[in-house]
Amino acid sequence: MKSWVKPVVAVLCGGVVCVVFSDGVAADRKFVAAAMMVGYALVLLRFHKKTALKQCRDTARESDYLVAYATETGTARQFAKQTCKLIQKEGMRASLIELNELASAQVPARALLVVASTTGNGDAPRTAGAWQEVSRALQGFASCSYAVLALGDRSYPRFCCFGIEVASDLRQIGAIPLFEPVLVHQGDPASVKYWFSQLAQSVVPTKH
Ligand SMILES: Cc1cc2nc3c(=O)[nH]c(=O)nc-3n(C[C@H](O)[C@H](O)[C@H](O)COP(=O)(O)O)c2cc1C
Repeated sequence: MKSWVKPVVAVLCGGVVCVVFSDGVAADRKFVAAAMMVGYALVLLRFHKKTALKQCRDTARESDYLVAYATETGTARQFAKQTCKLIQKEGMRASLIELNELASAQVPARALLVVASTTGNGDAPRTAGAWQEVSRALQGFASCSYAVLALGDRSYPRFCCFGIEVASDLRQIGAIPLFEPVLVHQGDPASVKYWFSQLAQSVVPTKH
């Protein structure tokens, strides 16, 4: 979060509490003042989110690692963000995109990392709904290294089917696997830990 956004939002929250509990002010005035402060805080947070997303897209042009996520309810996005953070902690540039945007993204200098959930009956989730078309336009990613973290649930007959499909499609276009797809049942911490340990082994810091 931008350094000034957090304190301003905190002050606004404090203001709301003060207004609500203040004596001698008419209830309708309290309501208007509190609503204005909440509204302003929400506008600031939205502005911050947009700016952060834009920064992420801008750096996509020059990233070492491109992290693409396919999610229905947000879990894959969270793991993708953690993956970006791990890479950035090692001093390298990582960009975050939806898997639907892969065909128009800049090929990364080091590797493409995909975090993909499966939904329906082995289907692509919301942010990868266009995968059939996208996967046909990835010629630029031939000879790019990649790894896949596939999220799913073993109670479904087609366990991690979409993540496996993405890994197979990438291999077919000539991309090079860093390691076998890591399959995760119900967010199993041991499998997620394994993903990060595999990444830590292949992510070697570069000097810029
Ligand atoms: C309606 C529904 C359908 C699902 N279908 C599958 C499936 O076919 N195969 C599988 O391995 N997991 C399936 N799952 C499990 C999800 O992949 C798993 O919960 C995943 O962590 C969700 O990640 P997301 O929040 O990124 O969407 C399904 C989950 C739901 C709610």
